[in-house]
Amino acid sequence: DKGNHRHFMEKEIHEQPEVISHALSNYIDFHSQTVRLDETAIDFGKVSRLAVSACGTAYLSGLVGKYWFERYARLPVEIDVASEFRYREMPLSKDEAALFISQSGETADTLASLRYCKEQGLRIGGIVNVKESTIARESDGVYPILAGPEIGVASTKAFTCQLAVLASLAIGAGRMRGTLTEAEEKQMVRSLSELPRIMSGVLNDIQPQMESLARELSKFHHVLYLGRGTSYPMALEGALKLKEISYIHAEGYAAGELKHGPIALIDENMPVIVIAPHDRFFEKTVSNMQEVAARGGRIIFITDEKGAAASKLPTMATIVLPNVAELIAPMVFALPVQLLAYHTAVFMGTDVDQPRNLAKSVTVE
Ligand code: F6R
Repeated sequence: DKGNHRHFMEKEIHEQPEVISHALSNYIDFHSQTVRLDETAIDFGKVSRLAVSACGTAYLSGLVGKYWFERYARLPVEIDVASEFRYREMPLSKDEAALFISQSGETADTLASLRYCKEQGLRIGGIVNVKESTIARESDGVYPILAGPEIGVASTKAFTCQLAVLASLAIGAGRMRGTLTEAEEKQMVRSLSELPRIMSGVLNDIQPQMESLARELSKFHHVLYLGRGTSYPMALEGALKLKEISYIHAEGYAAGELKHGPIALIDENMPVIVIAPHDRFFEKTVSNMQEVAARGGRIIFITDEKGAAASKLPTMATIVLPNVAELIAPMVFALPVQLLAYHTAVFMGTDVDQPRNLAKSVTVE
């Protein structure tokens, strides 16, 4: 049932504040402001490295997770798309653990990667939405994302719930490994607990702007997304979401890679969507934006209040989100990324919930 929404995708985008709060309450004790993790599945305090594997949007949530585990828990993460991971014959040892991220829990390549790691004697964690799935069954420990059924083929609420779970795991791992203090854990948990309120505020505030921007975006044939740090996987996710439902060609790049190739493409016919909260990388990303502007590129700037005040570059549009803690920015910035893809597809008249050639669950190679 779509309720009063035109598509399941729209409904699922708007469900995010609610489902993320379910997801978080499974991992966080809000009273003591601590993360609680079951160490019997994976003992994050002891593992030497994490191998992470997934496909599509689930892979991109894993890529954000890599930044978090490495920064907050000082735990090295090796991550790859499952269709490569399963054939790479990656050397693994028993003191490592492996995480597999899958909404459906049935993706063939992800499952094959899981079985490869199992044969190597690794502890296996499954981050899944469908608890009765094959990946859940074959994991030593299941980390449910509790997003509820996701019907739209393009993943939205599963993505942000995967992020919420990965953030919780990274904080928990940081505590176990002694790389986060109790005060830091509390501070991060407080930030996570603000997500439902912040996300619903953003969903209300940016809706009209996203619709009118989507009308403009639907006139272009190529779009480039740029981001740095955790905004880099978000740029990849923006490009994936736009291409799969609107069929507009889109690419995501690490902002610093701009001058190593894609800058050759910049002209007034290819808008550049820059995802840049005012974080440690902001100045760097703004200098990449300057390079785009200097070549006549049109910029759609997705930033926060501080970022909007700090950059004076002319843009085609600036989307201003509230200033939030660095940890939760990916979940907040996911919202304009999803809405822009959604409304652009609606303008293009595509089948938003069932894009051509795509299946919700890819159970063949
Ligand atoms: C994109 C999308 C796909 C899936 C991918 C993995 O919006 O939905 O890229 O993320 O097919 O599916 P799961 O998570 O079921 O393994």
